[in-house]
Amino acid sequence: MDYNFLMEKAIEVSKNAYIPYSKFPVGACVLTENDKIYTGCNFENASFGLTICAERNAIGSAIADGEKKIKAIAIYSPNMDNCYPCGACRQVLHEFKSDNGIDIILKNKNELTFHKIENLLPEGFNL
Ligand code: THU
Repeated sequence: MDYNFLMEKAIEVSKNAYIPYSKFPVGACVLTENDKIYTGCNFENASFGLTICAERNAIGSAIADGEKKIKAIAIYSPNMDNCYPCGACRQVLHEFKSDNGIDIILKNKNELTFHKIENLLPEGFNL
C-alpha cells in the first residue's frame, strides 16, 4: 500500500471534521493487516470533553468492521505540520498495533515523515 495514498485519504476526510469550537481539522486513515483502509475525522461537542479525535474515529470504524491489527496510520491537519497524535490516541494505537508494529505517517510541508509508536509512547500500558 502506497503511504501517499493513505495520506491523500487522511487529507480528504479532514475536510469533514466537525470543529466549530477549535477550528482545528484533523483527518486520519488507518491500514489494517488485511489491507483494508478506514478513515476518520475529529468531531467536537458543546460539552468539550466529549470531543473525539480523528485517529480514534478511524480506529473505531476498523474495529466495528472486525479489523483489530493496524499496520499504519496517516494523520493530517491543514493547520499544523507533523500533526502528532495526542497522548490518548497514542495509547489506543499501542493497543491495536500489528505484530510488526505500526507506521505513523505525518506530513511536513510536502514530505511524509515516519514515526514509531515505541518512540512516541515508551512503555505503553498493557493489561
Ligand atoms: N485532535 C485530533 O483529532 N487528534 C489529535 O491527536 C489531537 C487533537 C483534535 C481534537 C480537537 O477537535 C482538535 O483537534 C483540537 O484539539
